[in-house]
Amino acid sequence: MLLVEKEETQSTNDDARALALGGAPHGAAVLAARQRSGRGRDGRSFASPAGGLYLSVVLRPRAPVATWRLLPLLAGVATASALRPSGVPAEVKWPNDVMLGAKKLGGILVESRLDARPFAIVGIGLNVARAPEAVPEATALAAHARAPDVRALAEAVRAGLLARVARLDEGGARAVLPEVRAYCGTLGRRVVWEKMEGVALDVDEDGALLVETLGQKRRIVVGDVRVAQ
Ligand code: BTN
Repeated sequence: MLLVEKEETQSTNDDARALALGGAPHGAAVLAARQRSGRGRDGRSFASPAGGLYLSVVLRPRAPVATWRLLPLLAGVATASALRPSGVPAEVKWPNDVMLGAKKLGGILVESRLDARPFAIVGIGLNVARAPEAVPEATALAAHARAPDVRALAEAVRAGLLARVARLDEGGARAVLPEVRAYCGTLGRRVVWEKMEGVALDVDEDGALLVETLGQKRRIVVGDVRVAQ
């Protein structure tokens, strides 16, 4: 399966998007050793020095577009599950972070295009050798485990993501939600968002976070939450 490897690039999401626009099939991917302009969610930048994993996968799910909101969570589960065999108890923080305890190990950025031949680009960035110094709430894999072979880890993450998307294609949201819930460390925790606070109860079929606050249930569809310590 196509894996384009680069020493340096602007953003692997941009490279994967160019591949997809050129007709690249489901599963094609780009892996870079560093990015000059790594992008995070909400227009933020994602520090991408050498010694990290920067992977973007082209997806052409057959599942209805309404279920694509689950893709960041599936990417988080695929990443966490690829790390667990090496003793790293990674979890997913809703909606798009890979966590080790309270620290961020990596993030996920999904960008999609819904035209005649729709696709989604799933970008995954992981701090492997070291965490960015400017981000105190971040950690790196090397602080917890023997530094992995980045290419092998990227292949495991891609294979895990494709397996989960196949499950989504076959069985819809119901087929993937039990595992999402099992890996989602946000559930059962007190979370803070905008000016509200509550307990995260569940992730629903649209990928929304269900939170109980002041005796009421609310759905958080987009945005970020902070987990209260
Ligand atoms: C976030 O934490 O807000 C998401 C970060 C996503 C970073 C990855 S690294 C690979 C891909 N290329 C990018 O420019 N961004 C994603």
